[in-house]
Amino acid sequence: KKILLVTGTRPEIIKLAPIIKKIKNDMIFVHTGQHYDYNMSLQFIEELELPSPDFKFKLTKREPTLQISQIIKKINDVIKKINPAILCVQGDTNTVLGSSLAALKNKIPIAHVESGLRSHDWRMQEEHNRIMVDHISDLLFAATANAKKSLINENVHGKIFVTGNTVIDAIENYLPTSLKKSKIETPSEFILTTLHRAENIDNAKTLSNLCNAIIKSPIPIIFPIHPRTKSNLKKLNLYDLLKKSKNVTLISPVGYFDFLYLMKSCKFIITDSGGIQEEVTSPSIKKFALVVRKTTDRPESVKSKFAKVIGTNKENIISEIHKTNNSKLKLPRNSPYGDGHSSDQILSLIYQYLN
Ligand code: UD1
Ligand code: UDP
Repeated sequence: KKILLVTGTRPEIIKLAPIIKKIKNDMIFVHTGQHYDYNMSLQFIEELELPSPDFKFKLTKREPTLQISQIIKKINDVIKKINPAILCVQGDTNTVLGSSLAALKNKIPIAHVESGLRSHDWRMQEEHNRIMVDHISDLLFAATANAKKSLINENVHGKIFVTGNTVIDAIENYLPTSLKKSKIETPSEFILTTLHRAENIDNAKTLSNLCNAIIKSPIPIIFPIHPRTKSNLKKLNLYDLLKKSKNVTLISPVGYFDFLYLMKSCKFIITDSGGIQEEVTSPSIKKFALVVRKTTDRPESVKSKFAKVIGTNKENIISEIHKTNNSKLKLPRNSPYGDGHSSDQILSLIYQYLN
């Protein structure tokens, strides 16, 4: 009985790593190649000591519809070849939707890790993807009771389990090594920034607001840039604005060990990432995040006061950065995303389902 486990992007590799590590011989591991640069994909497979994928594809299309069709076709071929007992996917990327559609039409059950996230922001491709996948999944692993509630309200047909988020497991597994191995150099006090959400960076006005706000930071900023963001910054002539700003240090996307080190040692975080809003709540990281978006799909981080959604208005961002920099933050002891045993629970539920 084979478990077909599919990843496509950086966060899928990181969040499925704790599960991949625990599956023994019965896994077929596929990387669709949605993220294809070494520092967005293979770097994580190597660093987190995961087995090499049994299948690794090159997707030639970037447009979502065509990219999803290519993924459906590739995963359909794999399914025909190996006849898996179940598909396991994580999150809300095009890889997750494409693989799940291929499984559905081949009558292969779907296990969806990180089920039930909702931003209620219909501009987001991810919102479309996760709603569709939640409705065709057989096992839905919701990180929190709140995510479970969303699924119940939508009357999904599969079985829902609250399991916590595997990213907390990943941090517990990799932080000690990261603190030993990371050689990244930082100023004594800095803000860590990441930006890549399509609604932010594909919109010229919003991207310009964000850049013009962070260059006004009172303390240094370290900004590992997602390739999509880098290319848009260059197109809009904003790359040089950031490069020339003495307070902003642009670096290439870093590996997980370096990123964990950066999260652990920064003063606070400015981000539009989903995963980072969860990671800051880990008791071993414990940081505050300013979320530069109009909405969030991680309301638990906001409710527990690890994060604040501040929108994308330039003046507002500048004022929030100053306010956060001047305040003494008191953060809760526990994460709303579980205690780091999510991967054990998920795997045992998958095996129970298969037996
Ligand atoms: C995708 C996910 C998003 C997730 C993010 C994680 C979808 C719809 N979006 O967004 O939910 O938060 O991954 O980082 O699935 N590119 C490169 N090299 C790479 C990867 C991407 O240059 O290795 C560039 C390409 O120009 C590509 C663009 O980034 O067209 C967008 O990549 P894509 O995977 O479509 O979406 P992300 O924005 O990365
Ligand atoms: N991350 C990383 N290196 C970086 C930036 C992020 O390892 O340079 C990690 C981060 O710790 C988190 C994941 O990548 O686990 C988040 O990915 P991203 O923000 O691209 O996607 P999202 O979570 O928004 O889907």
